[in-house]
Amino acid sequence: MRYKEIVEEIYESVIGEENSGRLATYIPELAKVNPDNFGVHLSTIDGENVGVGDCCQRFSIQSIAKVLSLSLAYKKLGERIWGRLGVEPSGTSFNSLVQLEADKGIPRNPFINAGALVICDILITLLDNPKEDFLTYIRDLSDNPTLDYSSVIAESEQSVGYRNIALCHFIKSFGNIKNDPMEVLDFYFNLCSLEMDGRELTHTFLFLANGGRKLDGTEILNGSQTKRINALMQTCGFYDESGEFSFKVGLPGKSGVGGGIIAIHPNRYTIGVWSPKLNDKGNSYRGIKFLERFTTHTKLSIF
Ligand code: DON
Repeated sequence: MRYKEIVEEIYESVIGEENSGRLATYIPELAKVNPDNFGVHLSTIDGENVGVGDCCQRFSIQSIAKVLSLSLAYKKLGERIWGRLGVEPSGTSFNSLVQLEADKGIPRNPFINAGALVICDILITLLDNPKEDFLTYIRDLSDNPTLDYSSVIAESEQSVGYRNIALCHFIKSFGNIKNDPMEVLDFYFNLCSLEMDGRELTHTFLFLANGGRKLDGTEILNGSQTKRINALMQTCGFYDESGEFSFKVGLPGKSGVGGGIIAIHPNRYTIGVWSPKLNDKGNSYRGIKFLERFTTHTKLSIF
């Protein structure tokens, strides 16, 4: 496959068109990002790498990090994790509170904020030093000791994080948060503040394209766990736009309100796109457009 030519050609076509959408201004620091940043990076499990545009500039990966926290909690707790949260698409926005009352504090899936908060709670119970130990996990996973949280972004979100604070306390009232909600929220805001550039993102996620193993053979998750995380990304990775992403792109993926998207083609590649302007569902406008053209042109979707 002539990945380089195809990625460059689609990049040029997308950048030549309108850049619709809005920055995630509800987090003050994210409102300061240049809305015209646009980068793409692809990594194959055979070791090929292709990058264009702002693919070497770090950005806030936000909810993309929820896949990584889930992977560590799943690795440590195994199937018992599903007693604390579901595996169904919510059909609601990422920060919705509405289903939790009827569902008695059991979030529909691990990628909506409610589910990610429960995963943070699980990790706080399991890890000695949650923030440090999680960072060590990410650095080992990516072979990149420079990866880090952004305290500026974490504090910025914490200062206005009213919905997440409400969600966490509401879930606590049902008994599905075991630790101090403020500790859970602090871990959650730091998790979301992780920064990566496109290349770091595609490298970190390669294990999900490689049956749960890093390219050096180290097992992160077993084959069944890897299948399940990819399935959750397929069905829940874009909240109430998950069906449309699947329809247009046809790959498991995960978005973040920093404007990043990671998508995975099992046994082939990972591809990361970053463009900060978001559509009404909170997903990168150019990111989805790029990926739709990429899988259409290459015929490399999972369907
Ligand atoms: O909790 C929040 O609102 C953000 N830290 C993360 C939300 C997010 O990235 C949703 N993704 N599209």
